[in-house]
Amino acid sequence: MYLPNFLALPVLLAAPVLSSSYHFNPLDHSAGTAPYFTPHNPPLQPSTPQGCNVTRASYLVRHAAIYPNDFEYETYIEPFVKKLQNTSQHQWQSTKALAFLSNWTAPAEEHHLEKLTKFGLQEARSLGTTLHKRYAHLTAPARVWSSTAERTVKSAEGFITGFTDNHTKSINLTQVAESEKAGADSLTPYKGCSAYSSSYGSDQSSAFGKVYTKPIIARLNAEAPSFNFTQNDITGMFELCGYETVIRGSSPFCSLKLFSPDEWLGYEYANDLMYFHNTGYGRELSSTLGLPWVNASIAALRDESLPQELYVSFTHREVPPMVLTALGLYNNSAYSGANNVNGTMPEDRINYNRAWKSSEILPFLTNIAIEKMSCESYGYDEGDYYRILNNAGPQPLVDCRDGPGGSCSKDNFHDFVKERLESTVGYNEACGGDSDYPTSLTLYEV
Ligand SMILES: *[C@@H]1O[C@H](CO)[C@@H](O)[C@H](O)[C@H]1NC(C)=O
Ligand SMILES: *[C@@H]1O[C@H](CO)[C@@H](O)[C@H](O)[C@H]1NC(C)=O
Ligand SMILES: *[C@@H]1O[C@H](CO)[C@@H](O)[C@H](O)[C@H]1NC(C)=O
Ligand SMILES: *[C@@H]1O[C@H](CO)[C@@H](O)[C@H](O)[C@H]1NC(C)=O
Ligand SMILES: *[C@@H]1O[C@H](CO)[C@@H](O)[C@H](O)[C@H]1NC(C)=O
Ligand SMILES: *[C@@H]1O[C@H](CO)[C@@H](O)[C@H](O)[C@H]1NC(C)=O
Ligand SMILES: *[C@@H]1O[C@H](CO)[C@@H](O)[C@H](O)[C@H]1NC(C)=O
Ligand SMILES: *[C@@H]1O[C@H](CO)[C@@H](O)[C@H](O)[C@H]1NC(C)=O
Ligand SMILES: *[C@@H]1O[C@H](CO)[C@@H](O)[C@H](O)[C@H]1NC(C)=O
Repeated sequence: MYLPNFLALPVLLAAPVLSSSYHFNPLDHSAGTAPYFTPHNPPLQPSTPQGCNVTRASYLVRHAAIYPNDFEYETYIEPFVKKLQNTSQHQWQSTKALAFLSNWTAPAEEHHLEKLTKFGLQEARSLGTTLHKRYAHLTAPARVWSSTAERTVKSAEGFITGFTDNHTKSINLTQVAESEKAGADSLTPYKGCSAYSSSYGSDQSSAFGKVYTKPIIARLNAEAPSFNFTQNDITGMFELCGYETVIRGSSPFCSLKLFSPDEWLGYEYANDLMYFHNTGYGRELSSTLGLPWVNASIAALRDESLPQELYVSFTHREVPPMVLTALGLYNNSAYSGANNVNGTMPEDRINYNRAWKSSEILPFLTNIAIEKMSCESYGYDEGDYYRILNNAGPQPLVDCRDGPGGSCSKDNFHDFVKERLESTVGYNEACGGDSDYPTSLTLYEV
């Protein structure tokens, strides 16, 4: 019997040729209040490339999830919460997106501020466990370093607990003063730099804040006319999504019925503008402040006579983006054939195709690793290579990726760092030239 082969056709025709699924997680766009995640952007394989073994590594880690910090609490969250407690708006139940406000309570009070949350402590432990597994073949570190704030110290302690499976005495925690006079010889080099200001970027961020919050304010005020939502209220509500999640495990402020995906992208971009000008390419100072950790790490990885093979230090959110800038990563101008720094971050509309995304750069527990590898990999010269990871995802250097897995060969990497050191203004000069604070990081020279 003749069997027409188009019997198979209905199956093909039924295939969902044009369907595309859409997922949006606000927590992956929460900038400084994003719980730790690995964006896999680019989606390069995180495991060590074939034929290579990691022989040494250096990590710089932001503290894990905390209760709101003083500035964000006082500027955005507390005024919103106070207003809520005293508002004449009582009809929340009848609103579409705000019904939860009728019995929502603030997740943090004054005495909680800046402290590590339980979830944060678990995150820090889990990083310890993960790195212990990844580097099981390396000598366990004798020391871990942390700046002196409670949240960085507690994160480091959590890390040590996880790394040592609770045998915390086998690793010493060295606390490094967050003092001005330590200059670059600290894990907080911006503190001794008078040319640095924590308010850099707030004008640019606020300018775009006006743009993206305008329709949100109009919509919410139409729903709840007595509350009089302001730009700062909206910022506080976006921040509460991340903060409430790392405190209580979830938050009604993360609901996409409250803020749509497009609105989240506005919030994220306003943050990106701030960090771009505060800790990134928008200010040349950023590279100066990021280089000391890079320089100290390379020295520690280079000198194989040093007994310690794994270096881990805990700091605040400012330093990892400065380090990435010093390394030329997340550079919006790369491959553009130009270096129009500020042109890549307009203040009236979103550059969706930017590389600089604070959610990917500085979530809670964000960490930058420089790994040194010994390789015998097909098609590559036998020898040492260096690879950068950001939150476990490989980030190949723009001008040096001649090795396996997006890594950079040893000599080219040393040349790259040397070139950066030569072309970047030194610490005291860039910081105002009015001090004689230490200009390099010497922590790892032990
Ligand atoms: C509470 O609201 C009333 C009326 O809107 C206002 O007069 C008063 O100043 C507010 N109190 C506080 C502490 O904000
Ligand atoms: C308020 O709280 C109660 C009890 O926890 C809950 O059942 C209810 O759904 C909440 N109402 C709103 C509007 O969230
Ligand atoms: C930690 O420091 C103490 C005091 O300096 C020292 O006796 C001990 O050997 C150190 N532990 C490790 C694991 O290096
Ligand atoms: C870790 O050690 C502390 C103090 O000795 C102890 O209270 C705790 O239960 C231990 N935790 C685990 C998971 O072993
Ligand atoms: C709403 O808030 C703004 C900014 O705080 C204020 O200038 C304005 O007077 C308020 N309007 C009403 C009706 O309360
Ligand atoms: C960013 O990229 C541009 C264009 O390639 C380059 O001129 C500039 O030096 C880079 N900036 C940094 C800090 O690497
Ligand atoms: C970018 O903008 C900042 C803030 O306005 C300014 O200080 C900086 O000089 C600008 N950078 C360039 C390269 O124009
Ligand atoms: C990597 O380590 C494995 C296991 O110790 C070893 O057999 C191999 O030769 C090493 N490769 C290189 C390139 O060092
Ligand atoms: C880099 O490290 C060397 C020592 O290894 C030191 O002499 C130099 O001052 C450091 N430079 C910076 C900018 O950290």
